[in-house]
Amino acid sequence: MKKYLTIVNKENKIKPSFIQKIQLVKRKNYLKEEVLIEEQTALAFDKLKEFLKTKNIFMEIDDSYRSIEHQKELKEQFKEKYGEEYANNMVAEPGTSEHHTGLAIDIILQLDGKYDEDNDEIFEHLDSYKAFVQYLSEYGFILRYPEGKEAITGYPYEPWHLRYVGKIPAKIMEEKNWTLEEYITKFSGILYVNKGKGVTSFDVVNEISEIFGIKKVGHTGTLDPLAEGVLVVTIGNATKIAELLTAEDKEYTAGVLLGVETDTLDITGTVIKSKPVDLSKDIEEVVNSFQKTYLQEVPIYSAVKVKGKKLYEYARQKKEIELPKKKVTIKKIKLLSSDNDTFLIKALVSKGCYIRSLIRDIGLSLDTYATMTTLVRTKQGKISIKDTSTIDEIKQGKYKLHTIDEVLDFPVIEVDEVLEKKIKNGQKLINNYQIKEKVIFKNKKKEILGIYKTEQDKLRVWKNF
Ligand code: DAL
Ligand code: ZN
Repeated sequence: MKKYLTIVNKENKIKPSFIQKIQLVKRKNYLKEEVLIEEQTALAFDKLKEFLKTKNIFMEIDDSYRSIEHQKELKEQFKEKYGEEYANNMVAEPGTSEHHTGLAIDIILQLDGKYDEDNDEIFEHLDSYKAFVQYLSEYGFILRYPEGKEAITGYPYEPWHLRYVGKIPAKIMEEKNWTLEEYITKFSGILYVNKGKGVTSFDVVNEISEIFGIKKVGHTGTLDPLAEGVLVVTIGNATKIAELLTAEDKEYTAGVLLGVETDTLDITGTVIKSKPVDLSKDIEEVVNSFQKTYLQEVPIYSAVKVKGKKLYEYARQKKEIELPKKKVTIKKIKLLSSDNDTFLIKALVSKGCYIRSLIRDIGLSLDTYATMTTLVRTKQGKISIKDTSTIDEIKQGKYKLHTIDEVLDFPVIEVDEVLEKKIKNGQKLINNYQIKEKVIFKNKKKEILGIYKTEQDKLRVWKNF
C-alpha cells in the first residue's frame, strides 16, 4: 500500500517507521494554535479551504497529527467529559488512530461567526457539515467515517474527520461509495496505457501504482524503453488474468535500418556487423515471405532463461551461450513504406515473437544486416492504441478502467448465493451451461467470483477472486 492510502484502523496499528516517511508542516487551527499536518495534505487542505470560501463555507482546522501520547491524553479527556463508553466508541486506542499519520484533519466550520463547542453541537448543524462533502474529492479528500459504513470503518459517523488520499483514489471512492477499507480490497481493473519512449514497462507499473495508491499492479507483455504503444496494465485482482492477456497476438509497426546489426538488435545498441547496402532482392517480396511460422532465435538481450540464468546476463558477462530458438508465427506482415536503406513494416505476431529478431532475419534474407530503429505496439489482442491513455492523461483522470469480463471474451454467468458459496470454496461444478473453454462467474452484486475452465463434463476453478 502506498503512503497516501495507508490504513490505520482497529486492525492495523500505525507502523513506527511511517512517521519517517512523511514530512509534517505547520498550520494554525481555529484557536490559532499550531498543528502539524502531512505536507501534501496541508497543501491540498489550503486549496480546499480557499475554494470553500467561494461557496460561503468557512472551514478551519481543529486537529490533525497526533502523537501516541497526545491520543492517550485525548482519550482520557473524553472519558472524563463523556464517560468510558462514549470515549471508547469515538476515540481510537492510542496507536490505532488515523491521526498518527498526519493525513487526517478534524475540521470545524465557522457558522454565523461562531464555532461549535462540541460534537453534539456539530450534529445540530449537520446540514452545514453535509454541504461541503461534494467538493472533497476534487482536492483529494474523503470523509473517512461516513454514515452507514460504521461496520466497515469501525467508527460512528464523523462529519468532521477528513482524510487525504489523493485526487484519483478520492474520486473513485466517491463514485463507488467506498470507504478506504473497501477501496484497498476491492479496487481492480485493467488500464490500457500508451507507453512513451525512454521508460521501462516497470516504470509504467510504478507510476500506476503511485497514482492509484495500489501495490498490486502488473503489466502484460514487456515493451523495451525504445518501444511505445499499447501496454496493458492490471491492477488489484485483475493481475490474476495477466497471463491470458500476455498470450494475445500483438500488432506492431517497426522501423528498419539496413546494412548494420547491433548487439541489442536495435538502434540503441553497439554496431557489431555492417556492410554497404546493395539490394538485389525486392524488399516487399522478402517482407511478405515472412508471413509464416518459423523457428526464431531469441535475442541475447532478453530475459529468457537458459540454465537458470537470463540471457542478458550472459551478454553482460561476455559469456558464450547458444541462443535458444522458439517457434513463432507471423500472422500478417506488410511493408508500409521504404526509402533507400530504411523501411517501415507492420506485423501481427504470436506470443513470444521478437520484432527485433524478425527484423534481423528479414535483413539476412535480403543478404545484408538490419536493425530495428522504432517500435510501436498498435494492438494487443482486441485492445488498440486508439483506446489507450498516456500516463499524463491518467494523472488528469482521463482514462477508462476496464473490467475483467470486458477484456476477456468468456461467457459471464450470474449465480445465486448457494452457487456463490461453492465457487468461493473452489468446488467443482457440473457443466450445465455448455461452456466450451472458460466461464466467468459473478454474484448478484456483479462482483467477479471466479473463472472456471472445462474438465470433461465438469467445470473446475481456474482463478478465484
Ligand atoms: N475519532 C477517530 C476515530 C480517532 O480518534 O482517530
Ligand atoms: Zn478525527
